[in-house]
Amino acid sequence: MRLERETFVTDAWPEDAMRRELESPHGYYLVAVDDAPAPVPETEEGDAPDAAGATIDGAGGAAAPEYPPVGLLGYAGLLAPAGSGQGDIQTIAVAPAARGMGLGRGLMHALITQARRRHVAELFLEVRADNAIARALYASLGFRQIGVRRGYYQPDGVDAITMRLEVPAAVTRPAASGAHAALGMQPRRADAGEAR
Ligand SMILES: CC(C)(COP(=O)(O)OP(=O)(O)OC[C@H]1O[C@@H](n2cnc3c(N)ncnc32)[C@H](O)[C@@H]1OP(=O)(O)O)[C@@H](O)C(=O)NCCC(=O)NCCS
Repeated sequence: MRLERETFVTDAWPEDAMRRELESPHGYYLVAVDDAPAPVPETEEGDAPDAAGATIDGAGGAAAPEYPPVGLLGYAGLLAPAGSGQGDIQTIAVAPAARGMGLGRGLMHALITQARRRHVAELFLEVRADNAIARALYASLGFRQIGVRRGYYQPDGVDAITMRLEVPAAVTRPAASGAHAALGMQPRRADAGEAR
């Protein structure tokens, strides 16, 4: 919840809404975590470890172990009820320190792949009109604008841009001899058409 609140400052989901999302049988949520050992927070001599690194909700409750642990770099979610043929990208967030390294694109690719597995033909999403980075990401993945919802994001009064993607079929091709070159490999004799 900390990353959710830090990312979506004025329109973060409440914890119970997030919990419902994660528990929904129609949903599919992914987290990106850092495998490196978590840094030990610096404390003054004699101090207990800082609760900010060990609680889900800092709203005054007792410190509880955080899950996933401190290495959470991002998350993204899809809603795709079985048989509907349609799905929604519900959310995506990457921690500020991990942005610009391809994680967001990787999470989106994984959601689109999962949508395809669920036989989703059309994927929808809403994005703040002032979020140029997310809009560029979605456009590069093939999402196209289909509408505007005026003042949708409150309390900021920012418009929502509605976007749609026709989920592309997975493309697989037989490996051609040219694939060797693309992979930087030397062709084998048989590939080069020489005597067997
Ligand atoms: C949107 C977000 C998820 C992108 O995650 P990310 O890991 O930084 O994105 P990537 O590194 O995979 O970059 C994907 C694309 O985003 C766009 N992008 C990323 N950083 C950008 C920047 N600083 N300026 C412009 N475009 C940028 C580019 O189109 C980029 O593709 P490219 O690398 O081929 O040019 C991330 O910025 C984020 O969490 N933002 C806050 C939450 C948010 O806005 N969520 C979307 C709500 S609808």
